[in-house]
Amino acid sequence: MTTTSDRPKTLLRAANLAELQEKGQLLVHLNHQTIALFYSNERVYAIDNRCPHMGFPLHGSVCKDGIVTCPWHYARFDLASGGTFDSWADDGRSFPVQIQAGEIWVDVAPQTNPKAQQQQRLQDGLEQGIPLVIAKSTIALLDLGVAPTEIFQVGLAFGTRYNKAGWDTGLTMLTCLINLLPYLDESDRPRALYQGLAAVARDSAAAPPHFRVHPLPTANLDFSTLKAWFRQFIEQRDREAAERCLVTAVQVGMSHTQIAEMLFAAATDHRYLDVGHILDFINKALEALDAVDWQEPEPVLASLVAGLARATRMEESSSWRYPVDLVVILEAAFEQLPAALETGQSQ
Ligand code: FES
Repeated sequence: MTTTSDRPKTLLRAANLAELQEKGQLLVHLNHQTIALFYSNERVYAIDNRCPHMGFPLHGSVCKDGIVTCPWHYARFDLASGGTFDSWADDGRSFPVQIQAGEIWVDVAPQTNPKAQQQQRLQDGLEQGIPLVIAKSTIALLDLGVAPTEIFQVGLAFGTRYNKAGWDTGLTMLTCLINLLPYLDESDRPRALYQGLAAVARDSAAAPPHFRVHPLPTANLDFSTLKAWFRQFIEQRDREAAERCLVTAVQVGMSHTQIAEMLFAAATDHRYLDVGHILDFINKALEALDAVDWQEPEPVLASLVAGLARATRMEESSSWRYPVDLVVILEAAFEQLPAALETGQSQ
């Protein structure tokens, strides 16, 4: 039998068992928390009274077979674990219960790993495209002191894996917002991060994962060979071969500048790819990698290849060729550029 001396300090007396059995549910206040007690199928349950969906009270809800249904939007929760059967509502928090001499005792010890729990919820929110879950987990993680770049990295990893079309608007927005974050008011930062993450989730909705291409099994490739191969494969619209060159460049230790040079060279082999979006996307992907100190660069870089390989080359369109051949004009201008720059510098 538990005595007062060996009882954990977090185990608090909550109510009388007979009273709960008679009333079916009770509301108690323990250690600054409001807890709803339920009696169902001859078991006692204790759960945070705030519905995790929107915070309305669970006390007064219908409870049957160990499941409580919130009356506000009908989310259902397993009373024993607090877990929800409706993922849009989020998991609640349940508390361990003990019965001693006809009294109910509730253990209000803090959660063991709230960070891991919120990280999982953020992942759930991204996978299922639930803005509310993304918003709440982002706020909770920031409140727990998690660095914004760590949260950003979750979105970056998710968006580059679940986006067969490659780097797109959502990842661009997310990167713009992580760049902006230091200049925003403290109170606006969670919202900015959330907007970027939600945009990534929208882009990735129902998208299959991108399976990674592995590097070539060699460490003896020089930069100019890899760069030439990469440009050639992009020219041939061979996504897989180009991706293998790019991840090999990372594997053999090419510098960030060299990798950027490979990408920008392929992106400027034609005058104007996809109305300029390809260059924007490369810029943003490199900024994203800078934000996370180039941790796990392969999936981020690989996400650029699909866009490069399939891009519309504007000089192939008739509007660029007729009635005025814009490419001829541009070629002539580009030939004059080095001399013009040199003249400008010497003046
Ligand atoms: S507040 Fe409980 S389901 Fe919405």
